[in-house]
Amino acid sequence: RRHLLGINGLAPQEIVDLLDRAETAVAISRRPDKKNSVLKGRTQINLFFEASTRTQASFEIAGKRLGADVMNMSVANSSVKKGETLIDTAMTLNAMQPDILIVRHHAAGAVALLAQKVACSVVNAGDGQHEHPTQALLDALTIRRHKGKIERLTVAICGDVLHSRVARSNILLLNALGARVRVVAPSTLLPSGIEKMGVEVFHRMEDGLAGADVVMMLRLQRERMEGAFVPSVREYFRYFGLDGEKLRAAKPDALVMHPGPMNRGVEIASDIADGPQSVIEEQVEMGVAVRMAVIEALVSHNGEPR
Ligand code: CP
Repeated sequence: RRHLLGINGLAPQEIVDLLDRAETAVAISRRPDKKNSVLKGRTQINLFFEASTRTQASFEIAGKRLGADVMNMSVANSSVKKGETLIDTAMTLNAMQPDILIVRHHAAGAVALLAQKVACSVVNAGDGQHEHPTQALLDALTIRRHKGKIERLTVAICGDVLHSRVARSNILLLNALGARVRVVAPSTLLPSGIEKMGVEVFHRMEDGLAGADVVMMLRLQRERMEGAFVPSVREYFRYFGLDGEKLRAAKPDALVMHPGPMNRGVEIASDIADGPQSVIEEQVEMGVAVRMAVIEALVSHNGEPR
């Protein structure tokens, strides 16, 4: 496989292979030296057209831990600001002979389009409301490390599913590995026909969280709402924000997850985000490991350096 554009199209065994490879990366990252040199001489370019803290930082650290030369393209200071198109920007970077491009873009499908034009591997670091495959992989790795498996776990994905590429990628991955997936949201924050993705739909947190093994909260993405439905924060928190009372419906050892960035007091109470069931910081650590696994799998598959 040359690119990672989404969870869609990955076979269950390919997902498991990446998670197993990421376990090795966790071990490397916890060593004092934290590094190997399997990608010495390889070049990775991070091209982020949308804001990011976790994904961009962890892709950079991941590439460096594998010994690659990593360049962060500063889109804000680039010729994109002078009107250069996505494809011309990509072709320009391609001419510098990178081995892998990591791309985030606000338009769904933009990363797949770019992948058709360049000679190197491409990883989708989030495209619009479409997919965020490495987020789903790091979430699965975090769950598997705590629960020992994904199969037959009940996972409740709660909140702004409509605007969430994280939710889409997680639904695809969790279903591929045999979890029972629920979504919990007001109907205005659910895409129509979401049931066709193989999820059970709930509109009350108490019902959707009942007996859940994992509670995955989503950020309320008000920047994508364009005034169509902007709930009042107080009302949203009252009905859909995760607090101690709502969490009691889930299993006592349920994991609390959030991909970040969090809106504390909007979709999740601060004491729950920092509480004993929260694995939110561990998700960030697993993000580096999963990205090491993905970069290594794609670049080593390409054979000798260009
Ligand atoms: N979860 C996630 O994608 O976070 P960033 O937007 O900070 O990369």
